[in-house]
Amino acid sequence: MSIAESANRSGAEQAYWNPSSSPLILQQRLNQTADTVSFVFTNADKLPFQFKPGQFATLTINIDGKAYHRAYSISSVPEQQQLQLTIKRVPGGLVSNWLIDNLLPGQQINTTSIAGEFNSVDCAHGNKLLFISAGCGITPVMSMARTLLQASSDHDICFLHCARDMNNIIFAKEMKQLATQHPTFKPRLLLEDAANSTEAEGLISLPMLEQLCPDFRQRSLFLCGPTGFMEACKSIVESAAYDMSQFYQESFTPAANDSQRGNSDADTLVQISVPKLKLKLAANAGSTLLTALEDNEVPIIAACRSGVCGSCKCKITAGEVVSTSQGALSNEEVAQGFVLACSSTLMSDTEIELA
Ligand code: FES
Repeated sequence: MSIAESANRSGAEQAYWNPSSSPLILQQRLNQTADTVSFVFTNADKLPFQFKPGQFATLTINIDGKAYHRAYSISSVPEQQQLQLTIKRVPGGLVSNWLIDNLLPGQQINTTSIAGEFNSVDCAHGNKLLFISAGCGITPVMSMARTLLQASSDHDICFLHCARDMNNIIFAKEMKQLATQHPTFKPRLLLEDAANSTEAEGLISLPMLEQLCPDFRQRSLFLCGPTGFMEACKSIVESAAYDMSQFYQESFTPAANDSQRGNSDADTLVQISVPKLKLKLAANAGSTLLTALEDNEVPIIAACRSGVCGSCKCKITAGEVVSTSQGALSNEEVAQGFVLACSSTLMSDTEIELA
């Protein structure tokens, strides 16, 4: 029985940790691979953590006197006394790398929120599921798998994880444990280099998917990984007469790359005006709105930097940007001119309002 169910039956209201009431306290670091660490937190209020499996926590980290906001997916199960975030080192990734290099047990971290639409509560699904992940994209779907298996033995889960090789499998031990404990949990690995193993080798393709999960068309599909991987998987299942109403995806790879989107000229300077702050800034056409604002030290929160969390929402009141993601924006907000700064490329002089 879950904590919430117990509370309901006894008539007591279960209290849960509130991100604004107390910081997270790191209890333990678990090395997953050479470049990935799971951080296990409790909180000073000693309350259980409530969230929907698949969601992310937005942390505020102070580095050299500057506050950075970043979103990290939760890999643990809700309603427990511990919250686990799994973080991978990223080339040039200031905050992820700082956490891996510096955060030690006993240290505290502030959190602004727990959120995310990619979760196994709000995304309607059947009892037969297929999780497909690559790299650190395994984190939110591992939370979903753990939670669903704990809740009911009716869930039949095929979990296909793609990794470079046997040394780069995040949650390798947990996958084996879940398979031992739950006969309906079927882990599958697809490795780019399967040397010294009996796992499948190669890249994701329709024949490979049919080999590893022959009944994938009968399963609700949750997908998370780098953008190119996600695009390949989506196109494979779309071409295979899969029912896309059962398809859910999330990506934490930057949604717009500076100077790589749209047709703007990266050598051309454009002006960004922020009338309410009385600011006029110069930026390269082709850079993201987020980069331009951060380079000029305009205060903006950008937690996921991937067009997912909505924290970098801005309103365009004049000028043109090209957006690669409108995730986390309502239809009304889009109609009013709101965009996600991390996912919007500057195409011309632009006037904005910070949300
Ligand atoms: S930083 Fe999360 S949507 Fe832009």
